[in-house]
Amino acid sequence: RECGSKPAGPTELVGSELSFITDNLARLLESGHPMLNTVSQYYFSASGKHVRPLLVMLIAQAASIGTRRAGQTSMLVGSDAGQVDYSLMDRTLSQNIDSDRESQSVNQLIASATRDSNGGRPYAPSVRLGLTILPTHRRLAEITELIHTSSLLHDDVIDHAETRRGLPAIQRRFGNKMAIFAGDFLLARASMALARLRDPEVIEIMSSVLSDLVDGEFKQLQNLEDASMAQPDERAFEYYLDKTYLKTGSLIAKSCRSSAILSNSTDDIVEAAYVFGRNIGIAFQLIDDLLDFTVSSATLGKPVGADLELGLATAPVLYAWQEYPELGPLVARKFSSDGDVQTAWRLVHASSGIDRTRALARQYAQRACEALAIFPPSPATEALQSVTLSVLTRSK
Ligand code: FPP
Ligand code: MG
Ligand code: MG
Repeated sequence: RECGSKPAGPTELVGSELSFITDNLARLLESGHPMLNTVSQYYFSASGKHVRPLLVMLIAQAASIGTRRAGQTSMLVGSDAGQVDYSLMDRTLSQNIDSDRESQSVNQLIASATRDSNGGRPYAPSVRLGLTILPTHRRLAEITELIHTSSLLHDDVIDHAETRRGLPAIQRRFGNKMAIFAGDFLLARASMALARLRDPEVIEIMSSVLSDLVDGEFKQLQNLEDASMAQPDERAFEYYLDKTYLKTGSLIAKSCRSSAILSNSTDDIVEAAYVFGRNIGIAFQLIDDLLDFTVSSATLGKPVGADLELGLATAPVLYAWQEYPELGPLVARKFSSDGDVQTAWRLVHASSGIDRTRALARQYAQRACEALAIFPPSPATEALQSVTLSVLTRSK
């Protein structure tokens, strides 16, 4: 079906959920060292886009809670269509409630689910009640933001970044050691929060994201040593897109999958959540690679042209290379000779590389929307479509 014909408002649906994230993260990052607190919270002081938490919340709303899942039947005591899965709620209540706000919302959930009876039997606390976000989803949303930011703290050291989110990059402000410690610390607290979900499948999936991130960075590092980047052919694109999935798509895809698992969704919904996340994730990074050529540093909050400076040939360059073979030697020497970055920049703009990158991102966005087809129609599903569209038109 056509993507996003009738956009719903993601902010109205989950905006209030997201507004708690910054405070919750600050609590998760408390330590006995004032300096560590300052450094590890540095990037959270500038408002990030919270794309990953947003998707976790919307998938939670779009998936319905309490549907039987293969291999998970022990959790669903007496639960068939129309019955409340109290075991899931108990688990949630006992293990995840650590604030009054959450106690209240789960109490409301139980009250509504019990009150709203269907011939004496309570309805499942699903889309019908509009209360599908569990405390475990909130924790997962925070974990995704911690993992993401942890990888950025390391990335900015590796990339010698100057700015991020409009601030001086972490290592420029506090030095490399502090940046690395802060990254490690975020990852440590993310691991603890993950373990506290008490869901071995989600723990395994989210842990595998960490090795995917490193795998993606290694692929990027070896870009040019690898024969697959000798010319801008199908193999080069395959390599680039695989790297793109690993460094950006994996976290988004696997957190969407985990969100559906925490909702106890059926296997086909869990798989669709993953396919959705994978495709929107790749579209997101393609646009990121394009923005490196099209917007100002002030808008982006980080330097533009940074990929060329780092020696990286992203999609706009690969397409431009197809039209201007003279880019080959520049790509091979990672734009390291005087004037290479400027020449490559000019050829990318003279070519259709930017338009073709946008068209490729559009294809992935369309695939993401198609994956949503098996979700029950709901405002959340529409909001997921509209977020997918907004990825294509974002300017930061
Ligand atoms: C940003 O890409 C970086 C990533 C998406 C992943 C970085 C991953 C690592 C450094 C591996 C270590 C992982 C952990 C969890 C510690 P970019 O440099 O293309 O984007 P940018 O323009 O935002 O810097
Ligand atoms: Mg990088
Ligand atoms: Mg970087």
